[in-house]
Amino acid sequence: MTPELSDLRQSIIAQLPKAELHLHIEGSLEPEMMFMLAQRNMVEIPYTSVEEIRKAYAFSNLQDFLDIYYQGMAVLCSEQDFFDLTYAYLERAQSDCVRHVEIFFDPQGHTSRGVPFDSAIGGILRALEEGEKQFKISHRLIMCFLRHLDEASAFETLSQAEPWLDKIAGVGLDSSELGHPPSKFARVFALARQKGLKLVAHAGEEGPPGYVWEALDHLHVDRIDHGNRALEDEALIQRIVAEKKTLTVCPLSNLKLCVVSNLVDSPVKAMLDAGIKVTINSDDPSYFGGYINANFAAVADAQNLSIDNLKTLARNSFTGSFLSDEHIAQHIAAVDLVMDEFC
Ligand code: ADE
Ligand code: ZN
Repeated sequence: MTPELSDLRQSIIAQLPKAELHLHIEGSLEPEMMFMLAQRNMVEIPYTSVEEIRKAYAFSNLQDFLDIYYQGMAVLCSEQDFFDLTYAYLERAQSDCVRHVEIFFDPQGHTSRGVPFDSAIGGILRALEEGEKQFKISHRLIMCFLRHLDEASAFETLSQAEPWLDKIAGVGLDSSELGHPPSKFARVFALARQKGLKLVAHAGEEGPPGYVWEALDHLHVDRIDHGNRALEDEALIQRIVAEKKTLTVCPLSNLKLCVVSNLVDSPVKAMLDAGIKVTINSDDPSYFGGYINANFAAVADAQNLSIDNLKTLARNSFTGSFLSDEHIAQHIAAVDLVMDEFC
């Protein structure tokens, strides 16, 4: 690859309007903010410096990361903490030309520590609404169930969300995948669907293709988060393409969690080539070393993505979103306008 091509890609990526569809807000907690909140809330953390925190972010699998991630979120206590966290993410997203976000939060990671559900969601929503005014970034909020906990806890969480349902777009499923297949949550997802919520689930990040089938057949998801291992099953690929399901891939996350050993092996290019509606996302950017543009750039260089590939990825991020058709059309027009300048 010539340096000119890499530079051209970088400037396209920087200017492309995009949506982020796979972002855990607790995973955007930067070490500096972790220290600030630890002091503010008098919470002890097992680190003495930002450098020490960054050094601890070396993971060999998903569980390694999750142990550190749950420990990190212990500094989030008040409504203001959740506001500060979310607002900082939106400020950062704006600088990457993000126009729409669909963010996850993990209420059970907070209620289990005695933090009220209302404090977490109240602060996040207040920041999303303020961010919409300040940065013109629209939003949807997705509440995730922690799959290492039981079905009863997920039902309890859904009932805590009842007063907020008009502000929650959907439910998701995250945390330790292996040993916790989607079918474990079929009944709570069915209830969420009855309540008019959109449905997404992490599947095929570490788990087998069978978990992706289950997310489709037992949970009836609108979108699959990650879905890397779907590529191992030709019939599954055909199903995903036929149903135009969006897969929210997270390249730097996959690298840091050893889902792939090199970005050359990221599923992005293979999914594009197979006709799958793939998007690029940052997952937990503070832990994985990069926000959305860094994810785009890293995979674009590693896989020699074409200008047309970049355009498809930006378009997919909007067509795969839960925005209205009218808003999607407006964003697509903005993507095409930027691309016209480069062609
Ligand atoms: N929670 C936060 N990030 C996650 C990931 N990549 N997979 C599963 N659960 C998560
Ligand atoms: Zn995730």
